[in-house]
Amino acid sequence: MPIRTIIEPFRIKSVEPIRWTTRAQREELLRAAHYNMFLLPADDVLIDLLTDSGTGAMSTIMEGDESYAGSRSFDRFRDSIQDIFGYKHVIPTHQGRAAERILFGVASRKGSVIPNNTHFDTTRANVEFTGADAVDLLTAEGRQPSLAAPFKGNMDVAALEALIAKHGRERIPLVMLTVTNNSGGGQPVSMENVRAVSALCRRHGIPLYFDACRFAENAWFIKLREPGYANKTPKEIAQEMFSYGDGCTMSAKKDGMANIGGFLCTNDDILAQQEKDLLILTEGYPTYGGLAGRDLEAIAVGLQEALSEDYLRYRIASTAYLGNHIAAAGVPIVQPPGGHAIYLDARAFLPHIPQHEFPGVALAAELYLEGGVRSVEIGTLMFAAAAQMDLVRLAIPRRVYTQSHVDYLVEVILEVWNNREKIRGLRLTYEAPFLRHFTAHMEPV
Ligand SMILES: Cc1ncc(COP(=O)(O)O)c(C=O)c1O
Repeated sequence: MPIRTIIEPFRIKSVEPIRWTTRAQREELLRAAHYNMFLLPADDVLIDLLTDSGTGAMSTIMEGDESYAGSRSFDRFRDSIQDIFGYKHVIPTHQGRAAERILFGVASRKGSVIPNNTHFDTTRANVEFTGADAVDLLTAEGRQPSLAAPFKGNMDVAALEALIAKHGRERIPLVMLTVTNNSGGGQPVSMENVRAVSALCRRHGIPLYFDACRFAENAWFIKLREPGYANKTPKEIAQEMFSYGDGCTMSAKKDGMANIGGFLCTNDDILAQQEKDLLILTEGYPTYGGLAGRDLEAIAVGLQEALSEDYLRYRIASTAYLGNHIAAAGVPIVQPPGGHAIYLDARAFLPHIPQHEFPGVALAAELYLEGGVRSVEIGTLMFAAAAQMDLVRLAIPRRVYTQSHVDYLVEVILEVWNNREKIRGLRLTYEAPFLRHFTAHMEPV
């Protein structure tokens, strides 16, 4: 009989202990953190699924070249990126939002309109910070959590066409596609959709940018699900996808497999010059952009490792393992399981808690109380009126947790599911003027 077990395609080289707390301790810790997962000390979390961003296990790398200008590590970083992304200019930044800040700082202004399948929170905030409107044009399928469809991250092309007709090309400095669509359940965008969006953008002379954080996971879903791609490598698929665009922003803390870092790419010489000028002002010289040489090396290696078929097979299978086990017991999740995370549908999980009492935050608090599991709300607290769903994201750090950790998670989630009627909603007692979820204070109603 052929062997079917998908194993972790790596050996573990160094480990970090995790620590148990009692339920009484967690009750106290949660109160002290104002029911906000971002305010909990990491040492008091047993399984940390707050984010997959910068929390993965690092690749083995040599030391970096820490030269201020012209470092060899930058050459390797740029070459690795150009090999996959193919864009002319590669600008290193300390993380994804810095790339967003520079791109929108240069390309967008008051009155601009920026369409995306779904803006991530930092992307939306950076667009709005320039006085522009961030418009989400997700396909209708993507807004129905329980509907299983292969490419629920797609952009609604007809809606994009209508938006361009309404505002005119002049007000739309660029169109963005987020792959995979993090705020919409980690769902992929199909190559067919990328091609259609690209053709429309080119017809109107509007540049297309990718928010490329999870491009390797997106490429794997295309290979598995889209006709014509089964025999292509993830790298060939990624290369084709990026060939339809004009640039990208990237947080290398995701499919760059790095603890920190990001970059901004463009084919536009004039824009690149303006971006580099701004980079020097706020991030650093263009051959390091706020990163150590060691980080540049880690990203150069990590981007290529993220495209390895053994890794992607294991990665996507282990996320699905969690999703399928809880869904089989009736837990409402965004279907099908995403690439980097499982998203609980908090409105369906807790139908007795109204949206203004933050069902997602209440569910995240309960998962922590029950099993020391930290997750994050993606819903009314994060997006206020722009929230289309109330989700709780269980983001899986790359190459960190094993199958028994996931079996434990399944037990915790099912325990919370079986006692869901007892969970109560929350109200806000403090909020910041933007990105309020990071620092909000809440209390039980
Ligand atoms: C889709 C998406 N875009 C942008 C970002 C911002 O990246 P960073 O956290 O590195 O600033 C993230 C991070 O979580 C993301 O998931």
